[in-house]
Amino acid sequence: MADPLPRTADVGVIGAGAMGAGIAQIAAQAGHRVRLFDNRMGAADQAKAKIAETLAALAAKGKLAPADAEAAAGRIVPVHALGDFVTARLVIEAIVEDLDVKRRLLRELEVVVAPDAILATNTSSLSITALAAGLKHPGRVVGMHFFNPAPVLPLVEVVSGLATDAAAAAVVHATAAAWGKVPVHATSTPGFIVNRCARAFYSEALGLLWERAADAATIDAVTREAGAFRMGPFELMDMIGNDVNFAVTKSVWEAYFHDPRFRPSVLQQERVAAGHLGRKTGRGYFDYAAGAAKPEPRTEGSAPRPSRVSLAGRSALAEGLAVRLRAAGFDVGAAAADAAVAPGYLEVDGALLVPCDGRTATAIAVASGRSDVVVFDLAFDYAKCTRLALAAADGCGAAAVASAVGALQAAGVAVSRFDDVAGLPVMRTVAMLANEAADAVTQGIASARDVDLAMMRGVNYPRGPLAWADAIGVPHVCATLRYLAAHYGEDRYRLSPLIARREATGGRLAE
Ligand SMILES: NC(=O)c1ccc[n+]([C@@H]2O[C@H](COP(=O)([O-])OP(=O)(O)OC[C@H]3O[C@@H](n4cnc5c(N)ncnc54)[C@H](O)[C@@H]3O)[C@@H](O)[C@H]2O)c1
Repeated sequence: MADPLPRTADVGVIGAGAMGAGIAQIAAQAGHRVRLFDNRMGAADQAKAKIAETLAALAAKGKLAPADAEAAAGRIVPVHALGDFVTARLVIEAIVEDLDVKRRLLRELEVVVAPDAILATNTSSLSITALAAGLKHPGRVVGMHFFNPAPVLPLVEVVSGLATDAAAAAVVHATAAAWGKVPVHATSTPGFIVNRCARAFYSEALGLLWERAADAATIDAVTREAGAFRMGPFELMDMIGNDVNFAVTKSVWEAYFHDPRFRPSVLQQERVAAGHLGRKTGRGYFDYAAGAAKPEPRTEGSAPRPSRVSLAGRSALAEGLAVRLRAAGFDVGAAAADAAVAPGYLEVDGALLVPCDGRTATAIAVASGRSDVVVFDLAFDYAKCTRLALAAADGCGAAAVASAVGALQAAGVAVSRFDDVAGLPVMRTVAMLANEAADAVTQGIASARDVDLAMMRGVNYPRGPLAWADAIGVPHVCATLRYLAAHYGEDRYRLSPLIARREATGGRLAE
């Protein structure tokens, strides 16, 4: 563990836009004198005034002592030339996302600052290796990737390029922690940790919409209410901006030489082409015009309470749901499982309620010769979820669907019926998030601990994807990926070597 920069050390921030201003505020609140530079006339002064307002507002809300707010604002010094960074021990650039412009800036900066000053970059997508190449001291260039809004979101990815000195990365890590952030180490690869591992959150949902398994509002509702994600993928894309989200997806896909894992969707492209960029244009996947009705998720009408529920075989998902049904007063007895159906499932008045494992309900029905098959989705916590997705086999009788729906409704769970696709939203999303996280670990991009931490603190996932796969059971996650791969015939569902290895040994993915 390195020591953080002492509070007496001068910090420089270049670029006084959305990110630079936030970073300057954080460093000033941590006690550093911060020199702030922007090549747009007046931008640094304006940013300082805005930060002072933000700090005063925090003080007015009682979140900060008024004297501390004033002192922090007073520590920000707008400067008008790079020469003013001569005393800075750490300079963080947050200028335009352009490799050549950033490289030029770093070249100019390295002759100004002391030889041991650290040059950090807030780039979201550029290679730290490429940014540092050609400098006299490339070892001191480190990615310091804050998330927007920087003063609010805790995660900082500390990114090392090929030439980055471990000692410089360690100082940046310790300094971010001293500033109250949650730092994680990452190596410089496209998307780093979060922007790479989060792609599946959008792409699986887009795949379901492309197949017309359900509408966007229904996929969002299931993702929130069963998956315990704070926002659904479509409302989140509308908030981020569909142009921004599409550009990030495309850049990660291109940077990984068109790996189908990261392939963007035609649906995103169409939104961008139409100018339906999300909240900022008043329309994206949803309509934000004043008075526009909020689209409701598709929800099944009320079905009668079934009389008999039993639990056949063993499965973490079926057992989780059985606990919820018992709490609703069902006397859930044990039954022998038909291995041709699944290792574990529920029987509800003759209907088979089978945990999603990447097969369609129809495929399970055909394989087992049982027609009344209904598949149910993964929930983050079956004891608490308020909605669950179901899909029925093509030959499933209406009475069987009603039994499955009625059981869940009796337990207080709203039901969204999906078309019979392979992989319902939460299960396929979590399987793919865990698979990507496992690949990031395999490739040495970050430790298992840091990947999980990054996804929880950078994008608010309710649990790290690796720990989540452990909780579901790695074999079930692997089965889901294999069935998805077989169903779609796509390389995107190929198993990460690490996840396959843990399946073989029965080991855990999370640290
Ligand atoms: N906005 C985000 O969500 C986000 C999140 C994480 C990282 N980033 C990264 O942070 C950086 C800045 O993004 P932003 O959203 O704050 O952009 P922004 O457009 O809000 O601000 C960039 C600022 O840099 C200034 N600038 C441009 N070229 C300059 C130069 N050569 N010298 C000095 N100042 C210059 C501009 O005048 C502008 O004020 C980018 O690298 C971006 O990829 C952005």
